Amino acid sequence: MHQIAPSLLAADFSRLGEDIRMINGSDADMLHVDIMDGVFVPNISFGQNIVKTIKQVAEKPLDVHLMIVNPDQYLASFVEAGADILSVHLEACNHLHRSIQMIKSMGVKAGVAINPHTSVSLLEDVLEDIDQVIIMSVNPGFGGQKFIYQTLIKIQQLKDRITVRNLDVKIEIDGGVGLQNAEKILQAGADILVAGSSVFKSEDPVKTVSQLKQIGINTLSL
Ligand code: DX5
Ligand code: ZN
Repeated sequence: MHQIAPSLLAADFSRLGEDIRMINGSDADMLHVDIMDGVFVPNISFGQNIVKTIKQVAEKPLDVHLMIVNPDQYLASFVEAGADILSVHLEACNHLHRSIQMIKSMGVKAGVAINPHTSVSLLEDVLEDIDQVIIMSVNPGFGGQKFIYQTLIKIQQLKDRITVRNLDVKIEIDGGVGLQNAEKILQAGADILVAGSSVFKSEDPVKTVSQLKQIGINTLSL
């Protein structure tokens, strides 16, 4: 069954605690936490101290998405802050294999995120070492952008590679995901849906999470 990861970037930061508690009480499987440094992406979000605070309230695992340069320098502090899954961007790592090993050596799950222009074929030599791939379906930096449809092809390509090699690597899709396109994304082979605006800007976020979770239950043969 697929998993849902609401992205806190779209939450109301003036009442972050309440929004996290709301997600605690929902069908969400994890909480997606976006870290932006203003260098790798043209926007700045928040750092380790806020993650630590989020961790105190959150009852779901923290799926931390690092959109930062020099991630190796900060991996330990994000694990200390409470990350359960830590993902680095392929484009931000000179020694991706080393970054992955560093994450795993700290006992948390390791993920690699790729931008829309990055081919899934570049993951070939690290696929065995990771727990998840985040395929960006928007250019990272902002919530509320439009889903890039080419992503569906990338999901299928990656799913094929994972299946052929019989690996246990989850495919997470991040950006522009909502009730209108979730079924297609799941049919293409996604395992985890990140949803920011479509959850937090909806009238009833808890209901939207359950609807996303229920999608395809009768129509997908997965
Ligand atoms: C984009 C972030 C996403 C973002 C998704 O750079 O990585 O996680 O919060 O937001 P929506 O779902 O609104 O596109
Ligand atoms: Zn993200």
